[in-house]
Amino acid sequence: MASHRVSFTYLSQEDLLEAGCFDLSMAIDVAEKTMVEFEDHRILFPEKIVQIFDPVAQDRINCLPATLLDDKICGAKWVSVFPRNPKRYDMQNLSAIFILSEIEKGFPVAVMEGTLASNMRVAAMGGIAAKYLARQDSQSIGFIGAGEQAKMHMLAMKVVCPSLKECRVAAKTAEEENQFIHELSPILPDINFISVNTVARDAMQDADIMVTATSAQAPLLKAEWMKPGAFYSHIGGWEDEYQVAQQCDKIVCDDWDTVTHRTQTLSRMYKQGLLSHSDIHADLHELVSGHKPGRESDQERIYFNAVGLAYVDIAIALAMFKRAESSAIGQQLNLQETMVFEHQDILDKIRL
Ligand SMILES: NC(=O)c1ccc[n+]([C@@H]2O[C@H](COP(=O)([O-])OP(=O)(O)OC[C@H]3O[C@@H](n4cnc5c(N)ncnc54)[C@H](O)[C@@H]3O)[C@@H](O)[C@H]2O)c1
Repeated sequence: MASHRVSFTYLSQEDLLEAGCFDLSMAIDVAEKTMVEFEDHRILFPEKIVQIFDPVAQDRINCLPATLLDDKICGAKWVSVFPRNPKRYDMQNLSAIFILSEIEKGFPVAVMEGTLASNMRVAAMGGIAAKYLARQDSQSIGFIGAGEQAKMHMLAMKVVCPSLKECRVAAKTAEEENQFIHELSPILPDINFISVNTVARDAMQDADIMVTATSAQAPLLKAEWMKPGAFYSHIGGWEDEYQVAQQCDKIVCDDWDTVTHRTQTLSRMYKQGLLSHSDIHADLHELVSGHKPGRESDQERIYFNAVGLAYVDIAIALAMFKRAESSAIGQQLNLQETMVFEHQDILDKIRL
């Protein structure tokens, strides 16, 4: 009789690190390839399911499914965002877990830690945007926000802009800025990191690349700090004054249609009638596929806003799983040894 065992691979964050999956070049390559598949309708991408537990703090757990038809993998990201975690518990605000299933029998193949892949995806998308939209000779990068997304973004930016030499960082406290520098400077020894003691202007003024990745809901980034030729990657919610987008020559989103339904700066502007579809140059996949141009002059100011595309997360998680599998890293866990009525001792186990 055929075995009816169903098993899957379990991968902790430590397994993923051991397998060399903390690899932003890999994430960038996978994200680009997957965006082209999306454009070719080879991805199923239904609506996410959102459950909000605190309407003020926005504590929430979301379920985001997607299917990669070419890879024959259906996955879901189960992601918690509890924005008060850093302050309350000295823990990250985002935690995630992935389930990947094959679509021949429909059985799970992997259950894996997902915070790493999720944060790498956010950074990879910003990195891809910079690849097409930042000046190739960018040397300086400024951050408002020094948390998990900011750190990951810095790593991705260095992958796509190896010319970067200086990173200035502003956060709510100087301690956070120093922590950012303490954690990143050993990884990026050729970058000159500068803490600006919470003065956002000093971090952003005249930077070639500007990144905001904050938990704030306020216009922190001022338009006058953005020089001609600068590229801006907006990661959080409302972080910049409206004039930033208004003065930009190009606005690119990961998915403009989704942006219109959210609460980012561009979403607010859209809802207030200050921005319309015709103001948007492209969605990022159109630059990757070559259907629309990226940067066309050294003087353009360019704005990029990502809200997050879960199919890219699933693709990055799959690439990580494959890499771990090729090194035999991870635990094999049984979901079932056999089908339920085939258990020899079923009479002892059943309760009626
Ligand atoms: N676009 C996406 O796909 C995506 C994905 C995940 C997270 N996010 C968003 O990215 C943002 C950052 O997430 P995180 O995980 O890095 O958060 P985090 O809590 O780790 O860091 C937040 C940072 O914001 C800074 N900050 C808050 N208020 C500030 C102010 N007034 N001035 C200067 N700095 C200020 C804090 O000092 C901190 O460094 C959040 O808004 C989150 O929702 C976006």
